[in-house]
Parts: sequence; C-alpha cells; structure tokens
Amino acid sequence: MSNLPNTPSAPSPDACPNTWYAVAFSADLKPGKILPVTLAGQDLILWRTKDGIPHAHSAYCPHLGAHLGYGGAVRDDQLVCSFHKFTYNSEGICTKTSHGAPPHKGRLAPKPVIETNNLIFVWHDNSGAPPDWTPPIFDSSIYRAHSTWQQESTGHPLDNAENPIDWIHLPVTHNAPVPTLNKPLLFDGPNYVLDMSIKNFWYNFTAECILTVSGPGIVVAQLVIPQTRISALEIFSWTPTSGNQMTSRKVTYATFLGDGIPRIPIVVEKALAAIVGYGSVRNIRRDLKIFTTRRYPKHAHLTSGEEDLAACRRWEKQFFESRQPDPVLRDS
Ligand code: FES
Ligand SMILES: [Fe+2]
Repeated sequence: MSNLPNTPSAPSPDACPNTWYAVAFSADLKPGKILPVTLAGQDLILWRTKDGIPHAHSAYCPHLGAHLGYGGAVRDDQLVCSFHKFTYNSEGICTKTSHGAPPHKGRLAPKPVIETNNLIFVWHDNSGAPPDWTPPIFDSSIYRAHSTWQQESTGHPLDNAENPIDWIHLPVTHNAPVPTLNKPLLFDGPNYVLDMSIKNFWYNFTAECILTVSGPGIVVAQLVIPQTRISALEIFSWTPTSGNQMTSRKVTYATFLGDGIPRIPIVVEKALAAIVGYGSVRNIRRDLKIFTTRRYPKHAHLTSGEEDLAACRRWEKQFFESRQPDPVLRDS
C-alpha cells in the first residue's frame, strides 16, 4: 500500500470548529425555565418562553456578572437577574432595573439557536460571526415516539465528523463490512452525504442508509431495513463543552412501515426506538473507547483507500475560517 501524496493536515487541531452544536434535549428545557450549559468553554443559558420558544444567551449578567442560570428567573417572557433584578428581553436588551433607568450600554449577548428533532442547537463561532447556514431539518412526523441517549467523555471535536468516512476502521473497530455506496459521496457546503447499503447491519439483514454529516457536530442517519420493515431516524450530536470534554447525545426514532402494516402502539414504538438506538450506542462506545485516549493528529499519514478521509479533512477547513464578527453576538 502506498501513502497518499499531499495528505492534508488537520485544519486546526487545537481550535473548536465554527458550527452548530446540540446543547440539550428539548425535554430538558421546560417553558419558563432557565438551563445553564457550557459550549466550547463558554458559559451559556438556555431559556424558554411560555409559548415554547427557546433562546440562548451568554450566562453572565452585563451589570455585575451574576450567572443568570443560578437564581435567575423567567418573568413575563423576560429574564430577571437575581442579584439586582435587571430584566432582559429575548434580544438581550435591558428593559428595566430595580433601581433607575436601564443602562444605555451592555447587552446580554444572544446566541443563535435552533430546535429540531427533540434537540436544541446553538451556533458557536470563535470570532463571534453569525451562522451562514442552518442544520437541515429531518422530517420525523411519521414517528410518534423516540429514545434518547447521552454520555460524557473526552475527545476532539473532529473525531466524529471523520468517523463515518473512515472506511478502514469499520471491519477493525466495529467488526462490520465496508458499506457499498449507492451514489457518489457528496460534499455539499457544510454537509456531506453518504447514500449506502450496509450488509449484515443486523444479523444478515441489509440496511439502506442515507447518512448526513452536517458540520462537525451533527450526524444524521436515515435508515431502512427492508426485510424487517423497520424505518429509523437517528440524530447524533457531539458537543465540546470545556477543555477536551465532550457531550454525546442521540435521538432515535423507529417504527415499522410498509403496505398493509398497521401502526404499532406508541409504547411499542418507543421500545423499538430504544432497541434500534442501543444498536448504534454499542458502535459509538467502540469509537469512544479510542477517542478518549487518542491524540488527534494534525498530520495524518494516510494510505491507499483513504482518499475519502483526505477529502473530509479538506471539507473540515471551512469550519475554521474566520469571518466578520457580529458585535451583538459577542459578550459585552
Ligand atoms: S449582576 Fe445582574 S442585576 Fe446586577
Ligand atoms: Fe466508528
């Protein structure tokens, strides 16, 4: 086997890619509540208005720095800091205080947030630039139940983005065959898509899978196992919190679909989602075992058969480009 010429280096192994990250499951954030979260070393808060709209902000009150996630409250769809009762609207503008007119300056920096498929995603950009793309929304309306999974570990933000395309680890780490691509691998802006057939996915059943990697933080699998009539949708996310700590989250939907198949009760659908979800967790854990002790290499020495992995590393570079910051998104 010969080494690939011009094997690309990692874009920036020490920086955090600019992309969307899941910071919570939807169910974690109740209307009228505040949830403290950490994303890429930044302390943030999530909160929800009474009608269910999620918002994300810097955690620290611009007045004197109290953390709004501890003791803060949502009142009349605005945030109230516990320290001196400064009140902020969803744009982070101070609308009143307990003592005099709101200050002219100082804004509770809002963060772009999207909620889809039972996950809440927040945009992270190292320079404070706004998002120029949004994660694709996957239709889960055919499903009536889902299962979730979450695990903390150490790792690198790019570990998961590269993993689906790291063909030669599949037989070694997962004891699984290399999939057959039904269509050429597609790199499309912030996404790459694998349309593939996976033999022996379950026992001797073949799965048809469209896998979309949407930025380095989100992997979505749309799965059909024709012999079992199982259709599934899995959204897997991988979020840097602080240091080299990561939080993995996964939402799994699954049901039986096909002509003449009656809808199964919701409780059975939930059990099926848990079973399908557990199958992929077993594989994720095999990867995590490596990722938790791995040193992510800036310069990889790839070999033949790893051209797609090299292309993936070139694709990753876009998530490290610096763009014009938005002064509102930066902490004041
Ligand atoms: S620190 Fe928040 S109101 Fe003073
Ligand atoms: Fe893997």
